Amino acid sequence: MKHLIAPSVLAADFANLQRDIEMINASDADWFHVDIMDGVFVPNISFGFPVMEAISRYAAKPLDVHLMIINPDHYIERFVAAGAASITVHYEACTHLHKTIQTIHAAGAKACVALNPHTPVALLKDILHDLDMVLIMSVNPGFGGQQFIANTYRKIQELRSMAASLNPGLLIEVDGGVSLHNAAELIAAGANVLVAGNAVFAAPSPQGMITSMKQISAGITG
Ligand code: DX5
Ligand code: ZN
Repeated sequence: MKHLIAPSVLAADFANLQRDIEMINASDADWFHVDIMDGVFVPNISFGFPVMEAISRYAAKPLDVHLMIINPDHYIERFVAAGAASITVHYEACTHLHKTIQTIHAAGAKACVALNPHTPVALLKDILHDLDMVLIMSVNPGFGGQQFIANTYRKIQELRSMAASLNPGLLIEVDGGVSLHNAAELIAAGANVLVAGNAVFAAPSPQGMITSMKQISAGITG
């Protein structure tokens, strides 16, 4: 499949959120990536339901909601009601991960598990079959604009080969420090969904950057 591009709204101009959402609507982007941070699981607070609902009102593409929060089960139904098409929970935040995945599916969303940079992909073996997507964090979660961690390539390759027998249709998303410099290599390693915050919103032409990231081919570095 052709890879998907999911610009991270965290890097948008919140004083001009409607304008930035409409820019993404008109671009070659596939999804909106929406980062929710609680100041407990990660050392930062982003935004909650009022902003999520405002994004949902204008967004014309699926909302890919990344929950960097403890106790995500408490909020899954509200995020789906607010427009989430997919919900990502962190492996490190879920004691009863299988149950959490069931809750996401019962609410009507696609289910994804995120792994922090230190968490081995092998820990997903017994849940992989139940997932629509795995998000490999390529920075420590909490902030946009951080430097990409190179070990991510190896993790994506390992996950892609695990998924070959356990869940061949699995989507692999990569999040943090993704840009034209590493996009081709990430796709070659087996990633299907590229999240990009700063690379898009700090570019002279955000729409042009999205088009360039969408057009990239595996193995050809931009
Ligand atoms: C980080 C977030 C990312 C972030 C990516 O914790 O999960 O989605 O917005 O931003 P960039 O692409 O700037 O690293
Ligand atoms: Zn994210």
